[in-house]
Amino acid sequence: MRTAAAASLLLAATTPLISAHGDHHHHGQRDFTPAELKELQDKWGTDFGFGGISTFAHLPHHKCLTNPQTPFDIGIIGAPFDTAVSYRPGARFGPRAIRAASARQTALRGYNPRASLNPYTSWANVVDCGDIPITPFDNGLALRQMSEGYNELATRVAIPENVDSAATYLQTAKIVTLGGDHSIALPALRALNKKYGKPVAVVHFDAHLDTWHPSKYPSYWLDLDDPSTQSFFTHGNMFWMAATEGLIANGSSIHAGLRTRLSDEDDYTNDSEQGFVRISADDIDDIGTKGVISKILSTVPADYPVYLSIDIDVIDPGLAPGTGTPEPGGWTTRELIRILRGIEGLNVVGADVVEVSPAYDSQAETTALAAAQVVYEIVTSMVRRGLMELARTKQEVVKDEL
Ligand SMILES: *[C@@H]1O[C@H](CO)[C@@H](O)[C@H](O)[C@H]1NC(C)=O
Ligand SMILES: *[C@@H]1O[C@H](CO)[C@@H](O)[C@H](O)[C@H]1NC(C)=O
Repeated sequence: MRTAAAASLLLAATTPLISAHGDHHHHGQRDFTPAELKELQDKWGTDFGFGGISTFAHLPHHKCLTNPQTPFDIGIIGAPFDTAVSYRPGARFGPRAIRAASARQTALRGYNPRASLNPYTSWANVVDCGDIPITPFDNGLALRQMSEGYNELATRVAIPENVDSAATYLQTAKIVTLGGDHSIALPALRALNKKYGKPVAVVHFDAHLDTWHPSKYPSYWLDLDDPSTQSFFTHGNMFWMAATEGLIANGSSIHAGLRTRLSDEDDYTNDSEQGFVRISADDIDDIGTKGVISKILSTVPADYPVYLSIDIDVIDPGLAPGTGTPEPGGWTTRELIRILRGIEGLNVVGADVVEVSPAYDSQAETTALAAAQVVYEIVTSMVRRGLMELARTKQEVVKDEL
């Protein structure tokens, strides 16, 4: 199992040499045979859910931003940033809470029956990339840090033996972000646009549009002689900024789970101009999860690169209270998961789960648990997409040889 091997390698690299005070004899230092190391690994290498250092799903931790030489297939990274919110802050603690709530996800019992695979032991090397350090003092700088961070991560390569395969999905390292407020999607989209050389399709689960024009917030001060555009960067504007920057595939992007109050109907016109199709929270009563799935699949082309952005507030606040801008009347956790399973065939090249604000969560970690489960489903689907593409490529090779 590659993940365990990677974990013990990492441990070996980070454990300081043991030396007695004042003398330079390294007592007990010798070479260990692979059999000895294997025995230690077999005996002590598997934590119970409640044990161990808190990484996502007990995955090995590589600080991906400072280790360009370490390849990985799927990296889970925290973006602890929340100074662009319009209501409740606190999502800077989201990555920690989601990691803690993922504790019962282990490679040992990570098998996902709906997909017939264990995402943590399949072809993909999945790692916890740690966090992007982001300033809480200056949003202009924060946006720059995140943009550079995601650009840096976009250069990371997948595991070489996987790259050898002709299946293109396997050839790029993919990033799943634990937010953080939703504004982190803008720098992620900038990096994907650069990497793929075109706008990506955005599949966006949220109670809100997040395509608000800056004038939709109290805007008198925007008209001053020296207007600062820094206030445009918020967790409700970032898709407007992204559309303005040409980062969103027009007409192939979709919101799902909407139920926000509007200024007026023009907000929808404005949203459509920015390239989005809409599914409201209520639609699920008429068309069911199957109808939601088919509307997403008929909007987003099958092989087009997709950024999957999940605001946890798409779930009803009764089930996910720990979030920045709660809106009653949302979907259940089960419905969201069912829909995510239904769109597993999409070519998801990047994803986020955002707006988990643990200070407003229940003692039972309700919201963080939902977020951790959503990340598990996303990673499962990425791994499954890789396997599907591999099978398709092999078939094509066989056909060519015939
Ligand atoms: C959106 O709304 C704003 C303010 O109402 C308006 O100025 C703008 O032209 C609209 N369209 C786009 C694409 O932003
Ligand atoms: C998207 O396409 C529509 C219809 O063709 C157009 O009105 C709109 O300006 C486009 N939006 C962007 C952001 O390119």
